[in-house]
Amino acid sequence: MTDFIRLDKALSNMGAASRREVKEAVKKGKILVNGIPAKNSDMKITGEDELVINGIPLKYKKYEYYMLNKPAGVISATTDSKERTVTDLISGGRNDLFPVGRLDKDTVGLLVITNDGALAHELLSPVKHVKKTYFVRVEGRISEETDKKFSAGICIGSEQFQPAELVILKNGEESEAEITIYEGKFHQIKRMFEAVGNRVIYLKRLSMGNLRLDESLPEGNYRELSEDELQQLKYRQ
Ligand code: URA
Repeated sequence: MTDFIRLDKALSNMGAASRREVKEAVKKGKILVNGIPAKNSDMKITGEDELVINGIPLKYKKYEYYMLNKPAGVISATTDSKERTVTDLISGGRNDLFPVGRLDKDTVGLLVITNDGALAHELLSPVKHVKKTYFVRVEGRISEETDKKFSAGICIGSEQFQPAELVILKNGEESEAEITIYEGKFHQIKRMFEAVGNRVIYLKRLSMGNLRLDESLPEGNYRELSEDELQQLKYRQ
């Protein structure tokens, strides 16, 4: 089914112009729809239409998907009165975008930002068991027992965690590992390591589903997902 949307709503959703700016631009004949100046800012368009706004070509997209390499020090929320949020890092003052799940303020790495609520719901639903892999650095040695405990599913207090996969990369005064979990409980990885005597000192998300963080993307930067990456995110194992 073709999705129709008002021209002014489409452009303001995409952060290209406010509704008022669209109205002004339409009056001045500065918005072309398929080469013809738009007559009204409330005309209906689809993603198939070729738009030109003040000489700049644009296509309306209902959903947008970004990969953010989250830096430390920003919170995984859309707005906050005190703290900088991950959506503040996306330019254009967009208010329709939100992060898919949460990373702690000091956690870095892959965070998907979108306006596709249905996909976010799918990815976060506990019954879907979407896998997430993290690189972790901890204080102290990671014991052999930890692997067994994590792969059996550790119990902390009355809370049962699902089996997780651990690959130890380096063991010493500070140790490093990759850990894959299939749920997303609050401070999950920090709590799992704390339960086996290792304090997490650095945590970075490397992947979600089959989507991997583009390591060439500097921390704090973001880019649109490619079509292939979107499929990797949508279609899992
Ligand atoms: N587990 C944590 O402890 N923190 C995160 O940010 C993500 C997973």
